Amino acid sequence: MNGKTETAFELSDGASGRSSQLPVRTGTIGPAALDIAGLHKDLDVFTYDPGFAATAATESRITYIDGDAGVLLYRGYPIEQLAGKSSFMEVAYLLLLGELPTGKQLAEFTGNIRYHTMINETLLRFFNGFHHNAHPMAMVSAVVASMSAFYHDTMDIYNPRHREIFSHRIIAKIPTIAAAAHKHSLGQPFIYPRNDLDYAANVLHMLFAVPCEPYKLDPVAAEALDLLFILHADHEQNASTSTVRLAGSTGANPYAAISAGVSALWGPAHGGANEAVLAMLEQIGSVDHIPKYLAMAKDKSSHFRLMGFGHRVYKNFDPRAKIIREMCHRVLTALGRSDNPLFELALRLEEIALKDEYFVSRKLYPNVDFYSGVIYSAIGIPRSMFTVMFAIARTVGWVAHWLEMISDPAMRIGRPRQLYTGPPRREYVEVSKRR
Ligand code: ACO
Repeated sequence: MNGKTETAFELSDGASGRSSQLPVRTGTIGPAALDIAGLHKDLDVFTYDPGFAATAATESRITYIDGDAGVLLYRGYPIEQLAGKSSFMEVAYLLLLGELPTGKQLAEFTGNIRYHTMINETLLRFFNGFHHNAHPMAMVSAVVASMSAFYHDTMDIYNPRHREIFSHRIIAKIPTIAAAAHKHSLGQPFIYPRNDLDYAANVLHMLFAVPCEPYKLDPVAAEALDLLFILHADHEQNASTSTVRLAGSTGANPYAAISAGVSALWGPAHGGANEAVLAMLEQIGSVDHIPKYLAMAKDKSSHFRLMGFGHRVYKNFDPRAKIIREMCHRVLTALGRSDNPLFELALRLEEIALKDEYFVSRKLYPNVDFYSGVIYSAIGIPRSMFTVMFAIARTVGWVAHWLEMISDPAMRIGRPRQLYTGPPRREYVEVSKRR
């Protein structure tokens, strides 16, 4: 525990006369947290917080979000500065190790990642077991989980060197696995990584190159992808990161924990939103249809939500969405596609929704994924691969959180409690006597 404790709340149960001291733990910035660890012992009650909307599950030194002010900091550095000046590999180093690297440290780190980009050939054969139209997220989750079979006996989670090798391996290999999933969907041969390329450029190479002709890398696309990776690299205790922490807290093999994170990310309320946004824009089709879809989004009986809008934490704006919107303009212009109709539609939809009382009163703003799909598709990445791109970037965050958790001597298994509302004790009735 590094958070300071200066004051405490006292909670009393008038009926029993018992009370509990709840220390208030303060971090460096942001809201303090009430330490309720003694509550059950003192008062025999749990706290009830569905969706963990008001619960800090852990201390963390990695990422800070101020949802009301639209602030996102990685290890203290504002996302706008990192997006403007840094690279994904530098951000990965920062998130994993806590400080910006020197030039020598960055070169060494990048070299370590490059060294591990290939995957075992037998792992490649796993893809043959999938139908050609299997969703790439399903393939990536399964193949990442199967890495635990390759690195099990050699992975001691309490050995810092083993943890370091794991972090390099998974960050290096997840693009190779992602690209193999894409090639499997297309029925094209797998393309081996090229270690002379930067991380994002290598992703594009493995996705788009074919063995029969040279692949010409588009630097605009590589730069855009690198920036998208920076923006998606971490987001504190989001659903997939919390999943990785929970799975990892049991002492499970970390590749299996990362695979659990991939699965959690896939849902449309989380990382799957980028794919859903593009599907939605295509469904809306034209500016004239926007009012009809906005009405559906407001209608609670329709199950239709404006995908890419709203966020559990950001109630002002998502700073990443702002950066991506600007980037969309730049990338589409540089690629000669500034008249992209989906981008036009997205801009109009945002404009109209942001004036609508329903969205204004609920503080629903575009999130990181409202515009990311437009960029992915402009650089040729198919819709089913959008969430996989997110997973590649977020692997860095997952690993940073897993490392933070495992190296904490106070780590305990994550085990939430419940408010039981099922039947009270009752006696078993023989089947012949049941009515
Ligand atoms: N469209 C329409 N209404 C919405 C939307 C939306 N996108 N998002 C929230 N609302 C409404 C809810 O219906 C609710 O209305 P009510 O108060 O009248 O019942 C209110 O706004 C609050 O919404 P909650 O669902 O309680 O907010 P929560 O914090 O639980 O959910 C979430 C956040 C999941 C992101 C939600 O806004 C959503 O489903 N958005 C669309 C999916 C999406 O873009 N997800 C990506 C998130 S970013 C990321 O993970 C990378």
